[in-house]
Amino acid sequence: MRKDKPSKTAYKVALSIVTLGAKPGMDRFLPPGIVQATEKLLVASGAASARTVRWSGSQRMVSVCEAFDWMLPGQFEAFACRKAFCERQVREGIGAGATQILVLGAGYDTLGWRLAPEFSSVNFFEIDHPSTARLKARGIEAMGRRDNLCLIPEDLGKRRLVDVLESNELWEQTARTVIVAEGLVMYLPPEAVRDLFGQCAVMVGGGSRIAFSYIPTGADGRPDADRWTGLMLWLQKVIGEPWLWSIRPEELSVFLEESGWTKTPALAGSTDKHGVEFFGVATK
Ligand SMILES: C[S@@+](CC[C@H](N)C(=O)[O-])C[C@H]1O[C@@H](n2cnc3c(N)ncnc32)[C@H](O)[C@@H]1O
Repeated sequence: MRKDKPSKTAYKVALSIVTLGAKPGMDRFLPPGIVQATEKLLVASGAASARTVRWSGSQRMVSVCEAFDWMLPGQFEAFACRKAFCERQVREGIGAGATQILVLGAGYDTLGWRLAPEFSSVNFFEIDHPSTARLKARGIEAMGRRDNLCLIPEDLGKRRLVDVLESNELWEQTARTVIVAEGLVMYLPPEAVRDLFGQCAVMVGGGSRIAFSYIPTGADGRPDADRWTGLMLWLQKVIGEPWLWSIRPEELSVFLEESGWTKTPALAGSTDKHGVEFFGVATK
């Protein structure tokens, strides 16, 4: 990704959440309060103007997004499913005793900010590239800081996760933890993804889980976006956030085992594809 600019894909996900909030029936999927919190965050951080946010929440924008769905079927609603999936993993994980939540590549995600007051004995951590994390921190400051939410601006391509977490005095390496890596791993080089999963396993206690989304590898070996693969790969490259990693679903178990995790499909609840992505859960 472009190191000096806030993430365009994080911005796109956040605006899509605002637009999904205006789509009839989506409240069945979207976590409660997510749309309002995202709207607030985008404006308070300066990531988007109030006008852009209003426009994104209009019926016209819903129609525009729906029209683009002919290209990548299901991609618009996939963001709502992804948010619901991650929040379910976090809530279930806390129910099963997790006392730490780590959101990697958090972008303008509001899960930590929304859930921190509800789970005051749980520590929430977010890591994102400084160019996005700093903007977000400004927004969180304006919306109201949470005592148990720690925003960490760090480029995980430059500094290892273990070093980042070890230098944080609140992080407990043996605590049961839920890690969320939503819309992140496709942007990292293959060796970095393997290393990241491995580091995650080392930094958490037994009974922890990692929830993630990923793009499957197609027959030609590239990240697969069906018939628009070439165009999507080119577009992602042009915006400076190319898709670098993908995996064949049937190879995921071995990949996770080698990284210290056990694929746990029962927790994921569904093996459906959402837009271009699959969702996965693994436990330690
Ligand atoms: C597609 S966005 C997803 C944002 C968020 N997870 C969501 O779904 O709303 C990808 C995020 O990964 C972050 N990211 C990409 N490469 C990173 C790196 N090397 N270190 C830290 N964050 C990174 C970007 O800044 C961006 O916020």
